[in-house]
Amino acid sequence: MSYKSHSHAQWSSRMAFVLAAVGSSVGLGNIWKFPYMTGESGGGAFVLVYLICIFLVGLPMLMSEWLLGRLGQKNPISTMGDITRRLKRSRAWVLIGVAGILGAYLILSFYSVIGGWALAYIQMAVVDTFSGLDNDSVGTLFGNLLASPVELLLWHSLFMIMTIGVVVGGVAGGLERAAKTLMPALAVLLVLLVGYAATTGAFAEGAAYLFTPDFSKITRDGILAALGHAFFTLSLGMGIMMAYGSYLSDDVNIGRSALIVVVMDTVIALLAGLAIFPIVFANGLDAAAGPGLIFQTLPLAFGNMAGGWLFGLLFFVLLVFAAWTSAISLLEPLVEWIEERSPLSRVGSTIVAGLATWALGLATVLSFNIWGDFAPLGMFDKFAGMTIFDLLDYVTSKLLLPLTGLATVLFVGWFMGRDELRSQLNMSDGAFALWRVAVRFIAPIGVVIVFVSSL
Ligand code: TRP
Repeated sequence: MSYKSHSHAQWSSRMAFVLAAVGSSVGLGNIWKFPYMTGESGGGAFVLVYLICIFLVGLPMLMSEWLLGRLGQKNPISTMGDITRRLKRSRAWVLIGVAGILGAYLILSFYSVIGGWALAYIQMAVVDTFSGLDNDSVGTLFGNLLASPVELLLWHSLFMIMTIGVVVGGVAGGLERAAKTLMPALAVLLVLLVGYAATTGAFAEGAAYLFTPDFSKITRDGILAALGHAFFTLSLGMGIMMAYGSYLSDDVNIGRSALIVVVMDTVIALLAGLAIFPIVFANGLDAAAGPGLIFQTLPLAFGNMAGGWLFGLLFFVLLVFAAWTSAISLLEPLVEWIEERSPLSRVGSTIVAGLATWALGLATVLSFNIWGDFAPLGMFDKFAGMTIFDLLDYVTSKLLLPLTGLATVLFVGWFMGRDELRSQLNMSDGAFALWRVAVRFIAPIGVVIVFVSSL
């Protein structure tokens, strides 16, 4: 069931396919990025916009990628090549695949550094660093980690080695089986943490922060961020879901599977928010703390609860696991491309791709310390004060992912025949009509409006 084999492999079951898709989509995006973006963008209003983006744009888009992949039965570039040739459409659509490879590479370069933070926190949990921490010391702990290029580099390197190690050998077997137990374990642990958050006395405040939209807090940047994150968290716009779809057999119901993935992904993100914000408010922390948010809030909880040592350890192990299953899906496109375009073997391609990603990751490592004040595009107002890490995140989440996503829905919505699409989607006529409206109008118009207004 290796999804990377170039022969035409198939998922062993619908369950295996859905789990693999959940493994790719549930990651740092849900537990690290979603809560801190919500905090930076003012809470409930952002969450509402995000939910609208997920269901109106993300879900139809996920279905489109799977459908294209299943039609093409190849890697994203070849799939787009074959389909455009058959339908006599412009070859320019192949750019969707190219942008995907580039985007995945850029994302993984910083994703791995954050995965490294989670590794560092496993080590801290093991030596019981969290016990008795207060607001200040928890901030210092995080600050010290970021201030040390050497430490960040070591953890980033370890995370990349872990990722390379799996991609070299293929994901079949171990990781898939592990995902089956570890993903549910992550959900259970999040529920436990929500339970802890309920004891902090600020649960209602945290929940209200997440679920009461204050429309005066909606900004254009917030909307763009919500849209970009809908793509990020569902692993869209990078050809990854297209690749997963290419190993899909014809009898799998794309609509229902997509709904499962989207709901699971959303539930995990919301649980993370419900666990984190009560702790933030109960301890007078800053909800807008940015990328450090979970690393500065959860250790406080772990340090002050019974058995916190164990919960902390478990949590960061599971976080690393969620990040790992996503990182693998991010390395795969580049590896596949190198393998097909060069004389290198699978192992050689993986090592080259991994080293290239690791090297770019150094820029993110340095963004948090030595290059902390270096804003390469600082001469433009829009990018003032943005470090290389900020820029990588911006360019991928706010430009590349939405633009490739836009191209994909335009292609599926306007350049493919209705009958072909209908035969791929085994759903009621009403649901199909709704999906088609979303793909032809809602998603593209939404993306375009958000873009134009943010420029
Ligand atoms: N979806 C993952 C997360 O939420 C990250 C990820 C994995 C990703 N593969 C992707 C993002 C492809 C964009 C494209 O953490």
